[in-house]
Amino acid sequence: MTVTTPTPVQTAQLKCIACGAVRAEAGQNFRCPECGDLFEIVYPAWKDARPDANALKQLWRQRRLSSDPLDQSGVWRFRELLPALRDEGSVITLREGNTPLYTLPNCSRRLGLPNLFAKHQGMNPTASFKDTGMTVASSFAREAGLKWVACASTGNTSASMAAYASRGGLRSLVLIPEGKISWSKLSQSLDYGAVTCQLKTDFDGCVRVLSEIVQRMPVYLLNSVNPYRLEGQKTAAIELLEQFDWKVPDHIIVPGGNLGNSSALGKACLELKDLGLVSSLPKISIIQAEGANPLFRSMHDHGGKTLTPVHAETMATAIRIGNPASWKKAVRILQATGGTVEQVSEAEIALAKAEIGAEGIGCEPASAVTLAGLKKLAASGFVKSSESVVLILTGHVLKDPDFTLAFHRDHLFANEAGPDVSARLDPLRREPIIVDATADAVIQTLRRFDATL
Ligand code: F0G
Repeated sequence: MTVTTPTPVQTAQLKCIACGAVRAEAGQNFRCPECGDLFEIVYPAWKDARPDANALKQLWRQRRLSSDPLDQSGVWRFRELLPALRDEGSVITLREGNTPLYTLPNCSRRLGLPNLFAKHQGMNPTASFKDTGMTVASSFAREAGLKWVACASTGNTSASMAAYASRGGLRSLVLIPEGKISWSKLSQSLDYGAVTCQLKTDFDGCVRVLSEIVQRMPVYLLNSVNPYRLEGQKTAAIELLEQFDWKVPDHIIVPGGNLGNSSALGKACLELKDLGLVSSLPKISIIQAEGANPLFRSMHDHGGKTLTPVHAETMATAIRIGNPASWKKAVRILQATGGTVEQVSEAEIALAKAEIGAEGIGCEPASAVTLAGLKKLAASGFVKSSESVVLILTGHVLKDPDFTLAFHRDHLFANEAGPDVSARLDPLRREPIIVDATADAVIQTLRRFDATL
């Protein structure tokens, strides 16, 4: 007699976060046909056949020794908690995930937080956290036989989508706001072969145009409203907790833009707790730029019940988003985990980014909001010195070299930042120095920095 184990293809379902409608498949726009809200992926089979927590922990560890591409992926290594493809051969992987957990000794000391860590999602194949979600969603697109995938982006989703699409033999369409994303992200999507359209609008405008396109054309939407992406992004939290040997840190701090990532990381923590892999939840807090703070306003003004879109402005272009799609999911995570939301100024972002750089790590501006926000949360007593904190660094320092150079050349706040800000930022500036091409001139320069030489 053969025993057929139910495959997760049958067990994963799409469930509307508002009206609870359940679907086997989503429509083109990944919105509930009943009420228009977003879907999330749920696993009802876990109720009857709960995966064994210890067996899973062991299996995931063993896979680290495997040479199977699926096991080498830091996403598919955790495939028991992901929706399964009918054919694993459809998986498109660039060996994403597997990102390092760093200490931040200088920031730790300054803040009086001995247990401060950074999980660097910028160490993914296209240098941002988007790869963890893209491997899952693009694989489902390939399995469904779709030819074209598309996204609106502030630069990282597009870079990631373009890479995974090319890798999987799919064509990709990128919509980005003209002049409002970093050149290095734009160059990635060109190099990976996407059809890249720069629209004369902002990110929220690109989303509006793309919503119409997906209704009219056979393209598969790869924005984070696509719940398969969030399932992949979930694995960063699983990997993080594994790195902590399943002892849960007190706080996880995440940048907030379209609010998919905070939702995904929170979903992972809730599922791991439900399944008994961990015994408590970290508080997940979300940090926004002051100029792109719709969630901050929503929580403060309306307790997260409604969200009014804002016109977004920030030099942290990755999170220059005024109308975040996943805000309800994010509110749910804040409430379920006891986290909070904070906003930070442009100068605070610049300072925090330079401080993370000075740790020999670096990140893009949007990621630095985490450290800037942590300073406020520690000052207010929300984060205590005895507690452990993990900052999620979402993008690599090379994602936005223009910002970094402008900071070090003192062009970032040309005339607008007051003396207070300059006094805080100046000690971290390292201007490139033009020096005569002689050893004497270089040695003289060196002695300006170290009189003991
Ligand atoms: N950090 C970086 C580096 C990002 O690129 C993004 C979002 C975020 C944080 C915010 O994450 O949207 O899940 O809240 N970038 C998207 C993009 C919008 O198109 O690349 P979120």
